Amino acid sequence: MAKVKMTIPQCKEMKGKTEKFTMITAYDVLLASVIEKTPIEMILVGDSLGMTVLGYNSTVPVTMDDIIHHTKPVVKGAPNTFIVGDMPFGSYNASVEDAIRNANRIMKEGGADAIKLEGGKNVAHIVEAMVNGGIPVMGHIGLTPQTAGQLGGFKVQGKDAEAAKQLIEDAKALEKAGVFAIVVECVPAPVAKLITEELSIPTMGIGAGPYCDAQVLVTQDLLGMFDRFVPKMVKQYAQLNKQMVDALNSFYQETQDGVFPGPEHSFGMKEEDLKRLY
Ligand code: KIV
Repeated sequence: MAKVKMTIPQCKEMKGKTEKFTMITAYDVLLASVIEKTPIEMILVGDSLGMTVLGYNSTVPVTMDDIIHHTKPVVKGAPNTFIVGDMPFGSYNASVEDAIRNANRIMKEGGADAIKLEGGKNVAHIVEAMVNGGIPVMGHIGLTPQTAGQLGGFKVQGKDAEAAKQLIEDAKALEKAGVFAIVVECVPAPVAKLITEELSIPTMGIGAGPYCDAQVLVTQDLLGMFDRFVPKMVKQYAQLNKQMVDALNSFYQETQDGVFPGPEHSFGMKEEDLKRLY
């Protein structure tokens, strides 16, 4: 059956259902077209591309132009998958006007269906202005990688009662401001469960246990393309890094051994033309 793009009302209807929905990252047309062949409902052009594709040590250096540049091919490769463009660090902390201008760019120039930004109560006024301006916004609380420094590193958030209460307040503030869904990253499963129960919009967990309405993962992690370490929250469904290294080693070795290219990978020419060359 042909894939049909999920709408925001359909996303909201997934709240509290036993059936879950899913979102994974993509930054190029090839991966997007692979995801398009699956029932996975959403693609995030995440600022994680800073680490997975651009080679930075954090998401902070990622620019608006990077996000737009990578959103365009994803939209082309997955026309029937809902595409969320991430607001990079520095694109929504100067002023509300600047934030709206940048969100507009991700949708108009990149072609995304919605934007995502990190933060709780502190960004609620920005979210409200965006939503009033007609921009669909996804929230992101818990471990927010853009401000990981302030959080003391890439650590589980909301581990004690006070911190967990803060997270619940953040989630409620975002819901009130108008987000249609909230990514909850790296929080204890019981806290994610509480947040999920307190909200009337879907929660999308990454490292947040099984109780959220959706699950999110970074594709490079779940496919085992990134092999330096495997974070606890990641399940590798394939070991593509190993397969890629094996394939490249085989190419190298077959080239040395004269096995590649074989006749099936080579082009010939007519005998009479060949004779005229000698
Ligand atoms: O940028 C990203 O990939 C993300 C996910 C970790 C949710 O924000």
